Amino acid sequence: MKLLVIGSGGREHAIAKKLLESKGVEQVFVAPGNDGMILDGLTLVNIDISEHCKLIDFAKENDIDWSFIGPDDALAAGIVDEFNRAGLKVFGPTRLAAELEWSKDFAKKMMMKYHIPTAAYVTFSDFEEAKAYIEEQGAPIVVKADGLALGKGVVVAETVGQALEAVYQMLLDNKFGDSGARVVIEEFLDGEEFSLFAFVNGDKFYIMPTAQDHKRAYDGDQGPNTGGMGAYAPVLHLSQSVVDTAVKTIIKPILEGLIAEGRPYLGVLYAGLILTADGPKVIEFNSRFGDPETQIILPRLTSDFAQNIGDLLEGKEPNITWSNGGVTLGVVVASNGYPLEYAKGVLLPAKTDNDIITYYAGTKFVENRTTLLSNGGRVYMLVTTADTVQAAQENIYKQLENQNTEGLFYRTDIGNKAL
Ligand code: AMP
Ligand code: GLY
Repeated sequence: MKLLVIGSGGREHAIAKKLLESKGVEQVFVAPGNDGMILDGLTLVNIDISEHCKLIDFAKENDIDWSFIGPDDALAAGIVDEFNRAGLKVFGPTRLAAELEWSKDFAKKMMMKYHIPTAAYVTFSDFEEAKAYIEEQGAPIVVKADGLALGKGVVVAETVGQALEAVYQMLLDNKFGDSGARVVIEEFLDGEEFSLFAFVNGDKFYIMPTAQDHKRAYDGDQGPNTGGMGAYAPVLHLSQSVVDTAVKTIIKPILEGLIAEGRPYLGVLYAGLILTADGPKVIEFNSRFGDPETQIILPRLTSDFAQNIGDLLEGKEPNITWSNGGVTLGVVVASNGYPLEYAKGVLLPAKTDNDIITYYAGTKFVENRTTLLSNGGRVYMLVTTADTVQAAQENIYKQLENQNTEGLFYRTDIGNKAL
């Protein structure tokens, strides 16, 4: 089998690596990928995720059995619909099913209609109306750009002033372009956050181990929101009954709702949840795997990944199994300055060859293919599995201390919430 993974980050590295380890898979292409992936035997294809026609031609010319779409922007742009129209098999939701992620307003309407627990909200496109609402509600309050904003379109405002500033930037200053032409203003929810992922085909779904991301840039959840600086799975201090409740009140009804709306879902569904005093509530839905959560979830998959996805694509019952031992934890190493301005071209340490996996995100080889340089905000991630969170932290942080991370930074407290 020959497979194609679309995307370029650590998430796609983890997906592609796991697929290549599957039985009967000869070659896994990644478009466009990043150079560090070559070290794991993956084949890069120099086509951008926005060039759907070129990707389709590539898949046809190279007899790709099926493709796996990583990033949200490709899904929002309808890449799955186009692959389907071209007669190609592809794992990911259609543009209409993916609207759950690309429009927060649509997601909220779905949750209201199908009685799925989430924060109360109102959507505005008029600044004065938004201002009046915020002044009436008071703080803390949450302001979100309606569209995709690379995880940066959310402001948890501690004061009315901060909330007004955020709305001003989105509605009047056009900070997020069209994504910020409407804002969702919602109730602040207090509780512990976790992520719940499922492989989905219509009304059938297969839950993955719970995961916890660390979205802020610096230790102690300080600094700006990022794509995610580290994660671990499973979140053992969340009881099975919390997961069962989330499945029953959130995952099942949203998938049934999508079917009722004529938008059946195929792909990975990602529920970003918060455990409030009234039980789990939805912060957001994403229509794809999380990054960096994928990198700590997929190493725990004990079944044949390519077989599982192939079965889902054919409407068969997949036999998906997970390791139930220990915990898998990963720490992202990012360029100094990320998620704002950062330099590229920092020399990266050699790949580890012990029981730590290196997933690459923003990397580039210099011509001779012996020297790997940083080429993005999040650069690489070290992942390991150990009996306890402490043991996993020790392995990873010892390794990081021995690496030359000049020009780069990482959080030193990934997993501390589980201690
Ligand atoms: P999102 O991009 O929607 O996941 O939001 C980014 C982060 O903002 C989340 O991970 C939460 O930490 C925070 N957040 C979003 N919505 C709320 C809310 N209603 N109450 C409290 N925190 C929130
Ligand atoms: N880890 C957060 C995300 O993938 O959106």
